[in-house]
Amino acid sequence: MKKLLALLLALTMCLALAACGGSSDNSAAPAAEETAEAAEPAEAEAAAETAETAEAAELPTIEAGKLIMATNAQFPPYEMIADGEGVAGTGLEGIDVEIAAALAEKVGLELQIDDMEFDSALVAVQHGQADMVLAGLTYTEERDQLMDFSDPYAQGVQVIIVKEDSPIQSADDLANAGLIGTQRGTTGYIYCTGDYGEDHVSAYDNGAAAVQALMNGQVDCVVIDKMPAETFVAENQGLKILETSYVVEDYVLAVGEGNTELQTALNDALNEMKADGSLQAIVDKYITAE
Ligand code: ARG
Repeated sequence: MKKLLALLLALTMCLALAACGGSSDNSAAPAAEETAEAAEPAEAEAAAETAETAEAAELPTIEAGKLIMATNAQFPPYEMIADGEGVAGTGLEGIDVEIAAALAEKVGLELQIDDMEFDSALVAVQHGQADMVLAGLTYTEERDQLMDFSDPYAQGVQVIIVKEDSPIQSADDLANAGLIGTQRGTTGYIYCTGDYGEDHVSAYDNGAAAVQALMNGQVDCVVIDKMPAETFVAENQGLKILETSYVVEDYVLAVGEGNTELQTALNDALNEMKADGSLQAIVDKYITAE
């Protein structure tokens, strides 16, 4: 409600400004955004109380008492197949897997992880086959039309992997890169096809397959998230990551569009993890500072 009022107020201010002469800059816009944001903590607090008092079993999930997560465990260090039984017996490990286990515990649900292709994971949560996606998933406005998101919990960077002797030296060279390898359904694919056209982009099932194609000379570079890129480069001889990053983005957790109750419960739990340092502890376990 407060948010609505703030928005109305902002709108009125914009109209007033517009009326006072077209040439003035639109500095009212950022101020309006701040007003809207400032109204949020109260809402979040109220939501946190609701989440605490609500019976966990009442959270709207596909199967009562269960939290089904869709991911693509080919994305180190966020999610990968574990050597042993993995985190909480899931057979998987990684930053997202540990976050998911902690979130499930906080909201009182039993975690089940379904490992699939990345594009299938996005479809699963939209079609009610998964309660959430945690997969190093980047926030985009287009995806926001199809699912609901948590606040960001990490930053992602799209980087460019090339062979050590490649003529491609920066993002500017991508225009003449020949063929760019990406993982299907990812922002890397979306940006590259948008910027350079589909004819210049090949999509692979996962990052490792795209990197293999680079090793085999089937593509000239790979555009992929920085953290998995580092693992892939460490595992394959003769590759390097270019210094210049292509796009910087936010990682978020997704639930089905309109599942506000689950979204709020998970987001509150996630924010608790940010506040008490447990999220950072998980990140530090998998990413050693450079
Ligand atoms: N951040 C990129 C995106 O959202 C890639 C994520 C791929 N994740 C994965 N688990 N394979 O499109």
